[in-house]
Amino acid sequence: MGYQVIARKYRPQRFSDVVGQEHVTHTLSRAIEQKRIAHAYLFCGPRGTGKTTIARIFAKCLNCTGGPKVDFDDNDFRCQEIADGRSLDVQEIDAASNRGIDEIRGLRETVKYAPASSKFKIYIIDEVHMLTKEAFNALLKTLEEPPEHVKFMFATTEPEKILLTILSRCQRFDLRRIPAALIVKHLAHIANLEKVKVDPAALYAIARGAEGAMRDAESTLDQLISFCGETIEEPDVLSMFGLTAQSQLLELSRAVLAGEIETALYALGLLRECAVVAVPTDGFEGMTICTAYVPAIGADTSAWNLRERLTEVLPPYMMPSRWMAFDALPLNTNGKIDRPRLREQFSAAMAAPDRTEALREHAVILT
Ligand SMILES: Nc1ncnc2c1ncn2[C@@H]1O[C@H](COP(=O)(O)OP(=O)(O)OP(=O)(O)O)[C@@H](O)[C@H]1O
Ligand SMILES: [Mg+2]
Repeated sequence: MGYQVIARKYRPQRFSDVVGQEHVTHTLSRAIEQKRIAHAYLFCGPRGTGKTTIARIFAKCLNCTGGPKVDFDDNDFRCQEIADGRSLDVQEIDAASNRGIDEIRGLRETVKYAPASSKFKIYIIDEVHMLTKEAFNALLKTLEEPPEHVKFMFATTEPEKILLTILSRCQRFDLRRIPAALIVKHLAHIANLEKVKVDPAALYAIARGAEGAMRDAESTLDQLISFCGETIEEPDVLSMFGLTAQSQLLELSRAVLAGEIETALYALGLLRECAVVAVPTDGFEGMTICTAYVPAIGADTSAWNLRERLTEVLPPYMMPSRWMAFDALPLNTNGKIDRPRLREQFSAAMAAPDRTEALREHAVILT
């Protein structure tokens, strides 16, 4: 077989291979065991977290020989056809390029016919939020009362764009971003099979850059193998993606915990793009509270990263209890943090009506 990118080569083939989405795979497995199979499913979640993969595995479980069952045989020709996209009874439709009413009308025509050689006729509609309103309405008619042999599986990154009337006819599953530690474990497994040596800190940096998307992590690993060959180290990853060294983040977290504001601010200066100021105070109902300030630039992604990092280094009771978006850290003409202006921004944020007294006190400690 020709060269295949890692993300395709290592696409999970059964539920037990899927990483970090047990809440979905367990529920689907139970439904199959109990023979409680709905006629429409919706898989939502961020890119590259397993929506299409889970829909295909589910299709295999439903249509395998002797199915529906979870433990289908890998050599079952029906499952192989589905995995290769050759099954006449499992149609994958990309709604991004088949958005209109004509396509959905076409689908409605085929729905009436019995499956060719399997138990069910399964339609996997990817990026379903891209359908036009008219197409959604046409689909609705079919969803209302589909024939017994028809199952729909929809996947989307943007469930909020789907009509409520459609949503209410589907069983909905929300996939999560995959925690960095699980991505690291999975990448280590792949690296081992591919016979490449990847330093643990490098794996970690790849996982951080992937922001919970396994496909992104795997594509990065692919790219690094082409770039570095058989040995990959942390600096390779950092230089390729402009990420921050783990040691710098640890230093920031340590300073935050110790309440060493000077050091924390200094560490922040080094990490401007994913800057967070977190200041712990003691004595609030016996707990340590710290508040983290995330710059609004790329706030989502960097906040998420930092929160992930902090989760690993801090015990839960020390996790920041508040996170708020801040505009970019104020810098002076030398490119250093402008402390007086930071203090002003901080005080203004603290003066907001929804801040508690405890938090205000704590702000005084910082300034
Ligand atoms: N939970 C996971 N466990 C293991 N591998 C995964 C997981 N999620 C994604 N992958 C890897 O990423 C690839 C792409 O996954 P998939 O096509 O299922 O993502 P998706 O959620 O449908 O993404 P998109 O929103 O971009 O369509 C898979 O082939 C697999 O290699
Ligand atoms: Mg997909």
